[in-house]
Amino acid sequence: MRLPAPRGPITAALFDRLAGPPGDLEPPLVTPPPARALDDGDLQLALFACYELHYRGFDDVDDGWEWQPALLAVRLDLERCFGGALARAVPRPPVVPPERVRSALAGLVAEAEREAPLSQHLQRAADLEQFREFVVHRSIYHLKEADPHTWAIPRLDGGPKAALVEIQADEYGGGRAERMHAELFRATMTGLGLDGSYGAYLDRVPGVTLAVSNVMSLFGLHRARRGALAGHLAALEMTSSAPNRRYGAGLRRLGHGPDVTRFFDEHVQADAVHEQIAAHDLCARLAAQEPSLTGDVLYGAACALEVERRWAHHVMSRWRQGRTSLEEAPLAAAS
Ligand SMILES: [Fe+2]
Ligand SMILES: [Fe+2]
Repeated sequence: MRLPAPRGPITAALFDRLAGPPGDLEPPLVTPPPARALDDGDLQLALFACYELHYRGFDDVDDGWEWQPALLAVRLDLERCFGGALARAVPRPPVVPPERVRSALAGLVAEAEREAPLSQHLQRAADLEQFREFVVHRSIYHLKEADPHTWAIPRLDGGPKAALVEIQADEYGGGRAERMHAELFRATMTGLGLDGSYGAYLDRVPGVTLAVSNVMSLFGLHRARRGALAGHLAALEMTSSAPNRRYGAGLRRLGHGPDVTRFFDEHVQADAVHEQIAAHDLCARLAAQEPSLTGDVLYGAACALEVERRWAHHVMSRWRQGRTSLEEAPLAAAS
């Protein structure tokens, strides 16, 4: 993947420096903070690029930038903006005793699922172009599916660690590369005539989509936020099975077969199991082991649900206006 095009003053300055050898990043790039940090394309793309240095990096960026102190300082400024905006948008759920963590998570999820028109639209009414847009948005996370939560493995112990590894082993295909969920998603993209290479559509997704991935990396890269990361994973797993059934049904309605629907079909089954493991064996046990993390577990889940809600709202409102939910240029088909 190559560095995307800049979207504003932060990315213009940051990407200009990243294209050169690792060094200083003065003056501070993030002043004053963007007012709408959760949706701001410039801020979210800058943060995404900083995080990406810890995943696969960019072909045109020196790997030495990853631990460059000046880069980490910029990342911290961006995280303060993002974290502050999250804190304003997501009220901290009331803390409960560890034995009630599972039901508290279920309560948060039930509240979020009451309002979920996107998956129903994709099942019943979306046309092929809308499905392709949906898949382009999702590709930002699904082509590295599970990677952000893997950061938590060395930070956990005992039962919660075993539970997370059990989930991740499935996400990574149980030792079979072609069964990795990221690979199943790539097959969906290819089947829909899209480019399945990593990061191919980074230039096409708005800030609200990048925020969905950035919140996982924010929780994943800070050990102090391991509780929030566990709760985030539980929220993903607990809101996966039913929508994925609808996505698969929508694609079959449009005439697609198992080569395209496998990713979604797989999640109907797998996540019905994963949600039990994530809520009980990971989150409830982590709360029992480290009670001080209980509030963070629930907050992480609430953040996952809120960034997803905002993203789905963006997509549906654009479609209701007869507009694309992506950034400008037309979708590039796979060559
Ligand atoms: Fe998965
Ligand atoms: Fe899963």
